[in-house]
Amino acid sequence: AGTAVGETGAFGFTSIDPVPYTVDSFVVPEGFDWTPIIRWGDPLFGDSPAFDVQNQTPEAQARQFGYNVDYTDIIRTSATTAILFVNHEYTNENIMVPAAQLEGDLDRVRRVGMKAHGLSVVELERASETAPWTPVVGAPLNRRFLDDTVYAFTGPAAGSPLLRTVDDAAGTSPRGTFGNCSGGTTPWGTILSGEENFNGYFRSAGVSETDQRYGLGDAETARGWENVDPRFDARTPGYENEVNRFGWIVEIDPTDPASTPRKHTSLGRLKHEGANVIVAANGKVVAYTGDDERFDYLYKFVSRDAFVEGDRAHNMTLLENGDLYVARFTGDSPAAEIDGSGALPSDGGFGGTGEWLPLVVGGASAVDSMSVEEVLVYTRLAADAVGATKMDRPEDVQPNLLTGKVYVACTNNSDRGTEGKDVADETNPRTENRDGHIVEITEDAGDQTSTTFTWTLLLVAGDPAQNTTAYFSGFPVDQVSPISCPDNLAFDTAGNLWISTDGAPSSIGYNDGLFRVTLEGPERGRVEQFLSVPAEAETCGPVVHDDEWHVFVSVQHPGEDGTFEAPTSVFPDAWKAAPLAGVGGGYTGIPRPTVVQV
Ligand code: FEO
Ligand code: CA
Ligand code: CA
Ligand code: CA
Repeated sequence: AGTAVGETGAFGFTSIDPVPYTVDSFVVPEGFDWTPIIRWGDPLFGDSPAFDVQNQTPEAQARQFGYNVDYTDIIRTSATTAILFVNHEYTNENIMVPAAQLEGDLDRVRRVGMKAHGLSVVELERASETAPWTPVVGAPLNRRFLDDTVYAFTGPAAGSPLLRTVDDAAGTSPRGTFGNCSGGTTPWGTILSGEENFNGYFRSAGVSETDQRYGLGDAETARGWENVDPRFDARTPGYENEVNRFGWIVEIDPTDPASTPRKHTSLGRLKHEGANVIVAANGKVVAYTGDDERFDYLYKFVSRDAFVEGDRAHNMTLLENGDLYVARFTGDSPAAEIDGSGALPSDGGFGGTGEWLPLVVGGASAVDSMSVEEVLVYTRLAADAVGATKMDRPEDVQPNLLTGKVYVACTNNSDRGTEGKDVADETNPRTENRDGHIVEITEDAGDQTSTTFTWTLLLVAGDPAQNTTAYFSGFPVDQVSPISCPDNLAFDTAGNLWISTDGAPSSIGYNDGLFRVTLEGPERGRVEQFLSVPAEAETCGPVVHDDEWHVFVSVQHPGEDGTFEAPTSVFPDAWKAAPLAGVGGGYTGIPRPTVVQV
């Protein structure tokens, strides 16, 4: 803390070399070390059974840390105590359980998988400020949010007929959360988590316009949960609307284990990657959120009420009511110069102006022939109707709290410019965008509630050795780390951007990793690789406590292309004695999604 924007000296490291995707290793810079904090299967409660990988049960999994770790935060509550939040996006049954159980005991496998989804809150402690964090088994705040945890809908669509089912005639109390990807921690200390690929959990008739727009179809789902619980089949009478109860931003209070988690309808229903909040100058809070799908949109929410410093109960209501907008970008270069190659236009950069198009304003719908409830439940259709800009899979969207500028990770879009699909534009300038890019938005007059903005592309990602259009805001391409498929974003105390990636093995041929990007000053655009994750893993989190020289990542789906019997990663147990080896089991022979401290 205490360093100026752009000053990187407070946290020094020498970039690591990228690691070929064929190598299973976890690599950190020289002089750093890493420790697993908590792994899939580790106990959270005094009665949690020891992890028995050969004989998993739903009852045991419900009391243990869940699977694929994605959004992560570590909220420090004293010098030696903290609260860890992690969501568990999805499961990889092919590497979680023996093949014989996948064939012969499938219902049990499905129920274990359900309990491995959701959210976890875990108290942490450490012996000193330089010691690694360790989980406190049985701590008062420890909590798993499971498939049967009851949530409360808030906002204008709560109670809508579109949200009612045979289990919940009031349409106010959905159960469970699935496909949670990224998220954000609010200025009032709660956690937001995005329900992303919820469509993958539901079978439906697949014929309606809304089913098709949200990717719902009449085919057995990959996990087949509709075979053990009829609510996952929208063709079941009484459960037609169950799928409408997913695709929301969830807010949880990690300091109150008895609290009811909420799903905020004001932020719309889409494949939310996550949401991140900033307090505007007038006190209103603004949440930015991306819809991670090829050719989907970027949104922002502006609260009706203002933030009140110190009034946590009030601030926890701020995401319940407000205005919802979707972004339209306009480029400022001649259209003929945007040819899909990714080559810079003659004015030397991709950029222009933009508008936030209203979907709901002042409690009223701004979309012809759609009610407020329809706009919020079928937000993608509303955004289609107003002419928003189709983006290359907007993942994490996060404002830099030091500058107010907003960063959008567009991870890739293999369909851009292909037959029958939208062609490249200045905001998404590559045909068959393999490597992704980062959009930087500056709200007009520095006002986060503004309805107009300017924008530029900070990075057009790639490996300069493989791709001549990789662009780093003009920083010399022979002095950067190759980077591809940006996904999650975070900032350090000096205002540098940290980017974790998901997809580099199949694009530039390197394992995914974590990168620091200088934003301000003469080194703007400098990309330095901090770490590299094991084979077939994506890098999640990240959490950057540069004031303590600590960085945390969640290693999601290590070895996902292997099998239980023939694993392709041995992370982490084969390399590091885990902190809970005595309770959570030693090396199981298979990879385990893990939160790591560096
Ligand atoms: Fe779950 Fe958009 O990554
Ligand atoms: Ca993601
Ligand atoms: Ca983030
Ligand atoms: Ca991703």
